[in-house]
Amino acid sequence: MNNIIDEVELLTMNIDSVDLDAYIRYIFLKNGPDEKDYLDFFGLVDQIKAEDIESFRKKISPILNPSTLFGFSYTKPFGYSGDFFIIEKIYQHYVNPDKRYKKWDIFLHSAPAVIAVVNRKTLAIEIFEKLNEKAMGLQQNVMILGSGPVTETFEFFEKNPDNTLTFELLDMDKRAIAYAKNKNKKYLDKMTFHNRNVIRYTPEKKYDLIWSAGLFDYFKGKHFVFLLRKYYEYLNEDGEIIIGNFNTENPSRRAMEILGDWFLYHRSADELKQFALQAGIEESKIDVMQEPLGINLFLRVRK
Ligand SMILES: C[S@@+](CC[C@H](N)C(=O)[O-])C[C@H]1O[C@@H](n2cnc3c(N)ncnc32)[C@H](O)[C@@H]1O
Repeated sequence: MNNIIDEVELLTMNIDSVDLDAYIRYIFLKNGPDEKDYLDFFGLVDQIKAEDIESFRKKISPILNPSTLFGFSYTKPFGYSGDFFIIEKIYQHYVNPDKRYKKWDIFLHSAPAVIAVVNRKTLAIEIFEKLNEKAMGLQQNVMILGSGPVTETFEFFEKNPDNTLTFELLDMDKRAIAYAKNKNKKYLDKMTFHNRNVIRYTPEKKYDLIWSAGLFDYFKGKHFVFLLRKYYEYLNEDGEIIIGNFNTENPSRRAMEILGDWFLYHRSADELKQFALQAGIEESKIDVMQEPLGINLFLRVRK
């Protein structure tokens, strides 16, 4: 036995030896999975064949509506996957108190990919804190691409009231901008919002840090490389750009796709490095880091 994934596979039920209708009925009878069911449920979802996805979704249709986080993701009330609102619900560990939905939301928060999303917020705050320490009182300019709810910045400001960072926040969804401005109303003097598409936007100055999580994994490789090449030009000497992307090793991938209709380009550390090389960046300036679960990788490129 080489790794934990093999172990998990051996422990989970084989979909061909399970009466799936009866299993789902049993789960719904108790208003959703309990902790002891999590491995089995995710294990079964992993084994669903492409041609059986729609019939599986029908079986769980009572929760595929915006009252659950799975259903919110699946129905996309804002028109696209991974909007600011669901990301914020993940960060706030939101659980619908209605007993028909509660266990399903608790279940979603247990998914490794969801924990990884929360971890990337913690990582962002740590990176801002290090930048602030290094600055020793000098102003540092940070740009966030695809800024969403802007919760990491809010929490950074709350934890570090005496900091010298200023932020520019770019998001194409004006509802995300409105939400983030309201959330960060105490700190608006340190923030400039741009309701723009990262592909079309041209920065007006240079930055010490450009941070982007939860955005580049929606882009094809050629757009990834184009954007990296473009924004790299707007780094100050000594600056860096850090781009998050889901790892190909994501145990929750099929659950995201089947239960949440949430599709992303997953990439390995090597692929991310290759993108940086294709963007014309010197090898010695390229690095890849990860959050504690290794499910979200971060391409880190220094000027
Ligand atoms: C998954 S959320 C991530 C939010 C935030 N970075 C975080 O980690 O909490 C992605 C955000 O990127 C925005 N977005 C998607 N495509 C974009 C584009 N081409 N230009 C600007 N923003 C975009 C979405 O509106 C959404 O708010």
